[in-house]
Amino acid sequence: MIVRTLDHVGIAVRSIEATTATYEALGLRVGFRIEVPAEKVAVAFVRLGEGQLELLEPLPANDSLHRFLEKRGEGLHHLAYAVPNLHAAMEELTRQGKEALSGYPKIGAQGHPVAFYPPKQFQGILTELVERKG
Ligand code: CO
Repeated sequence: MIVRTLDHVGIAVRSIEATTATYEALGLRVGFRIEVPAEKVAVAFVRLGEGQLELLEPLPANDSLHRFLEKRGEGLHHLAYAVPNLHAAMEELTRQGKEALSGYPKIGAQGHPVAFYPPKQFQGILTELVERKG
């Protein structure tokens, strides 16, 4: 068992600011909008019990997320699972023939090591592993 729990659900949006009211209508609080230039996104997290939603807004140079929004519109972008040890989890998946997207692992928006796996390896869902200790 390499996955501990669902860590967050990534949702692609055109504008975090324009989306905030949707989540506030549910009584949820949208955190600060944080720009992550290395990933060409702005993100905001919405706490939800022990999990989170991650709102993802493309910065101007983010061709792939702009393409995603043009093609599929706003909506589910990825699922992220919490793992206690990312290196061990990635080795286990390699043994099962699953390879992370190139450039991973790296440090994610909340300062934890992360790795992304292509949708074709996980029933059409872009899949992220996030290392969460403790
Ligand atoms: Co994520």
